[in-house]
Amino acid sequence: MMPVVGFGTASEPVLSDQTIFLDAIEAGYRHFDTAMAYGTEQLLGCAIEEAIRRGLIKSRDELFITSKLWCTYAHHDLVLPAIKQTLSNLGLEYLDLYLIHWPIRLVEHKEITFYFDKVDILPFEMGPTWEAMEECQRLGLTKSIGVSNFTCKKLTQLLSLARIPPVVNQVEVNIGWQQKKLIDFCKEKGIVVCAWSPLGACGVGWGSNMVIENPVLHQIAQTRGKTKAQVALRWVYEQGIVIIVKSFNKERIRENLKIFDWELSEEDHRLICEIPQKRGPCENFFVGSDGPFKTSEDLWDGEM
Ligand SMILES: NC(=O)c1ccc[n+]([C@@H]2O[C@H](COP(=O)([O-])OP(=O)(O)OC[C@H]3O[C@@H](n4cnc5c(N)ncnc54)[C@H](OP(=O)(O)O)[C@@H]3O)[C@@H](O)[C@H]2O)c1
Repeated sequence: MMPVVGFGTASEPVLSDQTIFLDAIEAGYRHFDTAMAYGTEQLLGCAIEEAIRRGLIKSRDELFITSKLWCTYAHHDLVLPAIKQTLSNLGLEYLDLYLIHWPIRLVEHKEITFYFDKVDILPFEMGPTWEAMEECQRLGLTKSIGVSNFTCKKLTQLLSLARIPPVVNQVEVNIGWQQKKLIDFCKEKGIVVCAWSPLGACGVGWGSNMVIENPVLHQIAQTRGKTKAQVALRWVYEQGIVIIVKSFNKERIRENLKIFDWELSEEDHRLICEIPQKRGPCENFFVGSDGPFKTSEDLWDGEM
């Protein structure tokens, strides 16, 4: 079981105060999405401790906590040390979900950053990496394991070698990048899709305003008397998938939860379906002429 709205924690610059996490718990969020690469594990851990102290929650078990294996640790023997470091950062005994952040392996012992040299990208070793992820689950360090940014092709490969199949694929999904084929594939295989950048990461370095400024969204929001963000999030929810949304603003974190007592019409869906599709610019971290992924097609196995 996983709450359908998760609270995103990635930001630039990295958050330096835990208050917004306490506000989120107070507002009702019970699912938090972090990663070693976000630099938010420690702050989230402190907030969980404080939330228990203040009585906002009785124990850590009331929360669903996801974290992710960074690419410099995507080496068979580094996965266990990585999850142990993550648990130590969070001050927790177990995660609810541990994901391979990207199907990318970077040379080990490098700084944990998205701004790495593309020549540092090594061939990804899916079998050995996944075997070590399975060991994390067997040892009880995480209740479940999954992946992020995997294509249908990579999921097929993973399902053929996994002894414990992945429960989640966390990928970009929003009205501007609807991923119908991947969502259908995951549903057929019993893999839950979690949508990152459901608002297109507006105002964030790796995103754009293409989603939030879309005229169709504006039109539907006006008709329904909702905000553009609420329409965008409701659409993701109505795809039968999980939302991971980030806001560090006290009003907006509440606004983003008010998507359950109304619905989009068939006409709204038809209009949204016709929106021209384009991925967000997040892939720029990995694609470059000096690395193995020269083009977007290379990175995404041609699944554009
Ligand atoms: N697995 C992956 O590779 C991956 C990649 C990217 C993201 N993620 C995860 O997914 C989470 C969410 O994705 P994201 O942060 O990229 O993008 P997002 O949630 O689509 O957008 C975040 C941006 O939207 C703004 N925002 C939030 N609520 C709003 C509202 N109601 N009205 C107007 N603007 C609003 C936020 O600003 P304010 O903070 O000022 O409200 C922030 O600038 C991340 O934090 C991270 O946990 C995972």
